[in-house]
Amino acid sequence: MIKNDLFLRALKGETVDRPPVWMMRQAGRYLPEFQEIKIKYDFFTRCQTPELASEITVQPIRRYGMDAAILFSDILVIPQAMNIDVEMKPNFGPYLPNPIRTAKDLDRVIVPDVQDTLGYVMDAIHMTKEKLKDEIPLIGFAGSPWTILCYCVQGQGSKNFDLAKAFCFTQPKAAHELLQKITDTTIAYLKAKVKAGVNAVQVFDSWGGMLSPTDYQEFSFQYIQQIVDALKEEIPVIVFGKGCWFALGEMAKSGAAALGVDWTCSARNARYLSGGKITLQGNFDPSRLLSPPSEIKKMVHQMINEFGKDQYIVNLGHGILPNIPLENAGAFVEAVKEYKQY
Ligand code: CP3
Repeated sequence: MIKNDLFLRALKGETVDRPPVWMMRQAGRYLPEFQEIKIKYDFFTRCQTPELASEITVQPIRRYGMDAAILFSDILVIPQAMNIDVEMKPNFGPYLPNPIRTAKDLDRVIVPDVQDTLGYVMDAIHMTKEKLKDEIPLIGFAGSPWTILCYCVQGQGSKNFDLAKAFCFTQPKAAHELLQKITDTTIAYLKAKVKAGVNAVQVFDSWGGMLSPTDYQEFSFQYIQQIVDALKEEIPVIVFGKGCWFALGEMAKSGAAALGVDWTCSARNARYLSGGKITLQGNFDPSRLLSPPSEIKKMVHQMINEFGKDQYIVNLGHGILPNIPLENAGAFVEAVKEYKQY
C-alpha cells in the first residue's frame, strides 16, 4: 500500500481534503542537484543507468515533497528501441540523423521486444520503487504515437513540424503504418512498466495541438485510444494533449482516468468540454512560476477554487522551464499543501 495515496484517490474521483500536486518535467533542469549529474553524464547515459535515473527521479521529491514522482527518462527511448537513431545534442535538443521520410524508410523500423531493448527502464523503475519506499506513487509515461512520429519524421524539434505533417498528408498509408508500429511498441512498453511497478501512466501528446480537430482524430487520437484500451483495466491512464482542448470531449469517453489541460483553456471550459465527470490535471502557465512566490500561492489557490478540489490534480499546463527559481517551484507545491476550502 502507498502511504500518501492522494494522487491515486484523485484519479479514482474520490473526495479528498486537498488535491494532489506534481509538476510535469519535475525531474530535471531547474534543479542544481540535477545539473551536478548532468555535467558528469550525457543524456542517454542518465536514462540508461538505473542508479542515475532513479536518483534524478527522487531529487524533486526530496526537495519539495510532491504527491507523485515521475520516472526520469524520455519519450524518445521508444524510437531508439525501434531502430531509429536518436541523439540528444546539448543546447539543441533531440536530433535524429536518419529520419523517416518515405515508405521505404519504414523497412528498418522494428516493433522490438521491449524487455531486450528497454529493460533498463524497468530496472530504473525497480530501483526507484525501492527509494520511494511506498511513500508516494510512481508515474510512468510515453509519448503519443503522433508526437513520436513528429520527431521520427522531422528529425528534430520544430515550431510547426511541417515535414511530419507533409508526410502524413502526402503518404498517409506509410504514416499509419509508422503510427501503428509506434502504438504496438508503446502498448508493450507501458505494460512492461506496469509489471515493473509504476502506479499510473501518462501519455504526452505534446504536439497534438498542431493538428486540426479532424486530422487529430485520424493521426493522433485513434492511436491514443488503442493505448488507453490496452491499459485501462490494469492501471489509471492520464492523457495530456497540449493544445488539444477541442478533443477533451472525446478523450473523456476514452476510458482514461484523467485528462491533462494546458493553460490556454480555462478550468470552467475544460470541465464543460470534458463533460464534468472526469478528473482533470493542470493547468498553471509554466511561465507564471516566474511571478513572486506570494503571487504564485494566490494564483494556485484561485486555480484550485476554479477546478474544484475534487477530481482534480494540481499541475502545470506543460513542463517546468529551466529558468524557474527554486523558491518559486517550492511555493507552487506549498500552496497546494496549505490549501483549505472556505
Ligand atoms: O519530470 C521529468 O523530467 C521526467 C522526465 C522527462 C524528460 N522528458 C527528461 C528530459 C519527461 C516526462 C520527458 C518527456 C518529453 N521529452 C516530452 C513530452 C513532454 C513535453 O515536455 O512536451 C518531449 C516532447 C520530449 C522530447 C525532448 N527531450 C525534448 C524536446 C528535449 C529537449 C528540450 C528540453 O526540454 O530540454 C528533451 C531532453 C530532455 N528530456 C531533458 C530532460 C530533463 C533536458 C536535456 C538534458 O537533461 O540533457
